[in-house]
Amino acid sequence: MKITLALTSIALCSSLAIADELRLAGLDLTKLEQGWGKPGIDKSVDGHALTIGKTSFTYGLGSHADAYLLIDVNGATRFRAKVGADDEVDRPGSVEFIVSGDGKTLFRSGTMRTGDAAKQIDLPLAGTKKLLLRVTDAGDGMNYDHADWAEARFDYTGAPPQALERVIEPAVIFTPPVSPMPRINGARAFGARPGAPVLIYVPVTGEKPIDVKVSDLPEGLSFDPERHVISGSVARPGTYRISVSAKNARGDTSKSWRIEIGDKLSLTPPMGWNSWNVWGMAIDDAKVRAAADAFVSAGLIDHGWTYINMDDGWARTGEGEDRPNKDKSMFGPVRDAGGRVLPNRKFPDMHALTGYVHARGLKIGIYSSPGEWTCGGVAGSLGHEASDAATFSDWGIDYLKYDWCSYGREYDRARRANPDASERVLRMAPYVLMRDALRAQQRDIVYSLCQYGDNQVWEWGADVDGQLWRTTGDISDSWGSMSSIGFRQEKAAPHAGPGHWNDPDMLVVGKVGWGPNVRPTRLTPNEQYTHISLWAMSSAPMLIGCDLTQLDRFTLGLLTNDEVIDIDQDPLGKQATRVAGDEVHSVYAKPLEDGSIAIGLFNRDEEPATISVSWHDLGLSGAQRARDVWSQKDIGERVDAVSETVPPHGVKLLKLTPAGTSK
Ligand code: GAL
Repeated sequence: MKITLALTSIALCSSLAIADELRLAGLDLTKLEQGWGKPGIDKSVDGHALTIGKTSFTYGLGSHADAYLLIDVNGATRFRAKVGADDEVDRPGSVEFIVSGDGKTLFRSGTMRTGDAAKQIDLPLAGTKKLLLRVTDAGDGMNYDHADWAEARFDYTGAPPQALERVIEPAVIFTPPVSPMPRINGARAFGARPGAPVLIYVPVTGEKPIDVKVSDLPEGLSFDPERHVISGSVARPGTYRISVSAKNARGDTSKSWRIEIGDKLSLTPPMGWNSWNVWGMAIDDAKVRAAADAFVSAGLIDHGWTYINMDDGWARTGEGEDRPNKDKSMFGPVRDAGGRVLPNRKFPDMHALTGYVHARGLKIGIYSSPGEWTCGGVAGSLGHEASDAATFSDWGIDYLKYDWCSYGREYDRARRANPDASERVLRMAPYVLMRDALRAQQRDIVYSLCQYGDNQVWEWGADVDGQLWRTTGDISDSWGSMSSIGFRQEKAAPHAGPGHWNDPDMLVVGKVGWGPNVRPTRLTPNEQYTHISLWAMSSAPMLIGCDLTQLDRFTLGLLTNDEVIDIDQDPLGKQATRVAGDEVHSVYAKPLEDGSIAIGLFNRDEEPATISVSWHDLGLSGAQRARDVWSQKDIGERVDAVSETVPPHGVKLLKLTPAGTSK
């Protein structure tokens, strides 16, 4: 790639040594990864003059968190810049600038907010080979931040510094091919309310034909061995242990499952697909059906994947000139004369669509917002909560993602009317309204709150009957976004458990796009292993966000590893926490129901690293059998510690079981 040398030669000092100067924005910026938009050369990411804390700068690089640029230092001797959040964003952002050299942190700005004065970077680079410039979201999971590297430049002699293409490792598939032996996969614990319709598909892999049997079902439930579906409803609250078995020509297996009839749903984190990360507003009936078909044809259904969720884009945008979305396919009155919400013309028959999904043993989800409009500018549920919940229930919906979009206005109004009300009460209000509306339904509808983790939602999400709540802003398919979200979930960890889950947002593997055109995820293979491992370790809801009709073998391997899925779906429901290491080389541990422990050795560095953890840090004693979870292979016994080499941005996911036990 051609490098633009942006400037001049300057005399560094009065000695004979002459250094050239190269501006950061003069590097090949196609190599810069950033969360949103295009890098601005001498401009902010939105094209304005670079301005930090009311001071404008004539040159520099305007980027957007999370940003990531790897540089070959070559002959550079010094790097200088003034960094900070650009003033152009009206809602206050927060960012952190980190510069590291050969894996060591050289500069860390700490959290910088919109309006803060720029911080100065002045780093000698002698001896440094690779420099990494990063901007993170500063840990709040909000990636709306515009970050400037003002007056950023290198002094160099000889070869100028050069932006580096990220080295992408080969996409190795660690997940072994599906075994011909029968295996019962996915969740082992299920919750339903008394009298509510139950639909549980029994996911089994192995050579066909497989004879699947379910026994000890509570009164009201029956099993259809052709469709592998348990259905019916149970009137009497209680905990019911049922036995599921599968037999084929190669062997047989059985598992004990638990069905709790009470007030809890989602005893394990929901697993499914959501349309947003792939189609954005370009969703339609055919795409939803195609996703359900792909769950069956690609075999995902037999690994425990259950929900097919429509996100924003199924409702209408109104008729007047002021309708918030200009896409004709969504025009039209948003409700009928009775106030019932109307789907747009891309969804001609909601009953038929939900029936299509249910007929495959899958469940179906929908999306709405407590404001007048959703973020995509179609009808929200404001003032129609009871009616919308009843409509969703009537359509046969099993899951509702409830956003915050355009509710800000109502919140401001409520704040003015109740100046003394507690912040939390006002933030909870729209979710309480929809909770009550959902409670009034005969149907179980999983309730997913999507207000970006505001006001420590993990502390009160369960009080509004939420089964899951987003803990962050939107994820994107960049290492910066995924890793800064995934590694910052600990704050909420104590609040995860059966029936209530922290949701770090949907998966960004496979072909994504947020609109009509899809492209492969920008995450490297190692980063994708990190992504899925981290979500599984976090007991996170797993919602695939890609085009399921274009699944490649690597992506399928990521999504069908039953031992990884078992970690996510473990009925104990503990969210992993960091037990050893630091922010760069981290060890996370998650206790499992059978007394074993899953550990993730994560390397966030640019170089391979050996990462270790001792039994002391894990609270273990005695020899442990170690199993590599991705390759599903035992790697031997370890006496008092485990130590593995982990590739850059990669992971080793292990399971430790006391030696001598059969687990
Ligand atoms: C956002 C939400 C996304 C998606 C989008 C739809 O607020 O975080 O996940 O649902 O709205 O407009």
